[in-house]
Amino acid sequence: MENGEARFRALLEAEEKIEPTDWMPEGYRQTLIRQIAQHAHSEIIGMQPEGNWISRAPTLRRKAILMAKVQDEAGHGLYLYSAAETLGVTRDQLMDLLHTGRQKYSSIFNYPTLSWADMGAIGWLVDGAAITNQVMLKRCSYGPYARAMVKICLEESFHQRQGYEIMLALCRGSEEQKAMAQDALNRWWWPSLMMFGPHDSESTHSEQSIEWKIKRVSNDDLRQQFVDMTVPQADYLGLVVPDPSLAWNEDRQHYDFGPIDWDEFWSVVKGHGPMNQERIEHKRRVWDEGAWVREAAAAFGERERNRGAA
Ligand code: 3HC
Repeated sequence: MENGEARFRALLEAEEKIEPTDWMPEGYRQTLIRQIAQHAHSEIIGMQPEGNWISRAPTLRRKAILMAKVQDEAGHGLYLYSAAETLGVTRDQLMDLLHTGRQKYSSIFNYPTLSWADMGAIGWLVDGAAITNQVMLKRCSYGPYARAMVKICLEESFHQRQGYEIMLALCRGSEEQKAMAQDALNRWWWPSLMMFGPHDSESTHSEQSIEWKIKRVSNDDLRQQFVDMTVPQADYLGLVVPDPSLAWNEDRQHYDFGPIDWDEFWSVVKGHGPMNQERIEHKRRVWDEGAWVREAAAAFGERERNRGAA
């Protein structure tokens, strides 16, 4: 075994982080570029469904909280793009891969946000699922990715709590408001379970990602963690999880739940979800509209460097 690979193995064994200047298998690098880029794209595209409701928030307080959350997501995206850049890709390359459909973002953001209750359901369920996954990623073997998760997880906790607070307010409101919360749960429950990816038996990357300690817990085990955490929260709200098979299994000490519609999942992943087209067209449009800002920033930076060099 070459020195580089031996040191890579030794670092993994010792639960130490692989850093950008360390030797790493090319497959390790490519898997991280794929996953970190997809994670970053998800954060940025994920700003659209919630941004859609900033101008329609019911109070100034809710508007301020939602604006702060959407701004956080932008920051998470930039953080993660920076982590991806340590692996030798540029931001422009990643943007082009997203805009041309050669890189993905999470399926969850291809569903429409039809009511204010969706802001609650997204914070509670989508950010709750993201936290479940991201807490695990804090133990990822790649240093820049694991360290990015520390700040992101702290901010996601605020996102999850503000979403749950919206749901609580609606559930303690009028019958119509509680019905709006139940409708949002009905529409966001199953797509949130899909966020964790296919079953372990169908997962393309899990076995290798677990061996490389990129993934520390399997898709199905994370999904189970999320269900076990979230069902009691739905009970407290007085809402019904839209799964007739959902039941506490005393022997397993977990909730049993029904089958996921993987046809729906793969259809959305392949671009046929309700909002795929709109999301990516919006992303391409704002990228083009923002070109002047990038050019101005680059020109300013160049002038400052020249001034410093003079
Ligand atoms: N949406 C889109 N594609 C998905 C997916 C999803 N929810 N789940 C899996 N896939 C894709 C994978 O990308 C892979 O396709 P590819 O080979 O073309 O990339 C294929 O399905 C097989 O899935 P695997 O389980 O083999 O793939 P991974 O090992 O990458 O596991 C994952 C999938 C668990 C999502 C993993 O990529 C991961 O942990 N990613 C980082 C976390 C992340 O991206 N979260 C997205 C949400 S971020 C967010 O919610 C923001 C919050 O602030 C709201």
